Amino acid sequence: MGEPFNDQILTGGKAERYGRLADEIAAVLAGETNITARMATVAALLNAGFETHVWTGFYVVDPEKPDELVVGPYQGALGCLRIAFGRGVCGTAARSRETQVVPDVAAFPGHIACDSRTRSEIVVPVVDAQGHLIAVFDADSHQPAAFDEIDKAWLERILQDTFAH
Ligand code: SME
Repeated sequence: MGEPFNDQILTGGKAERYGRLADEIAAVLAGETNITARMATVAALLNAGFETHVWTGFYVVDPEKPDELVVGPYQGALGCLRIAFGRGVCGTAARSRETQVVPDVAAFPGHIACDSRTRSEIVVPVVDAQGHLIAVFDADSHQPAAFDEIDKAWLERILQDTFAH
C-alpha cells in the first residue's frame, strides 16, 4: 500500500478506479470489525483515488441526538462538526435516505459551505446490517459536476459491502 498503490489507482477511468478501490478496501478491512477503523480506511482510500476531491468522509448519526449528524473520520480541510437532519446536502441525504448528487452546490438550497473550493458533491446514506442509518458518506470536489450515476452506483455498492454485511 502507500505510494505504489496510489500510483496504481490514479490511472484509468472512473469505473476502473472504483473497481480497484473496492477490492483494496475489502482486502485492507478483512477481519477488522471496528467501525471507526472501517470508516477511516474508506475515507483514506477513496480520497486517494481521485485528485479532485477536497473532502472525503463520514458524518455519523449521533447516538445521543438521533436527528443530528456529527463529523466522523475524514480527509480534507476542517469540516463542520454537526449537521441537523434536513440541513444541507448531508442532512437531506440522512432524512430522505437517498443519495444526493449535486452538480452545482450553489444551486442546492441550504448547502453548507465548509470549504469555499467545493463546486459539486455526492452524499450517500450508510446503513448497517439491520437497515438502520448509521452515517452519511460525503465526497466534495473542486470541479463542477464531478459526480454522476457511476459514482452513485459504485459508492452505494462499496458502502453497502463495507457496512451492511
Ligand atoms: N457540504 C455539506 C457540508 C459538509 S462539508 O462540506 C464537509 C452539506 O451541505 O451537507
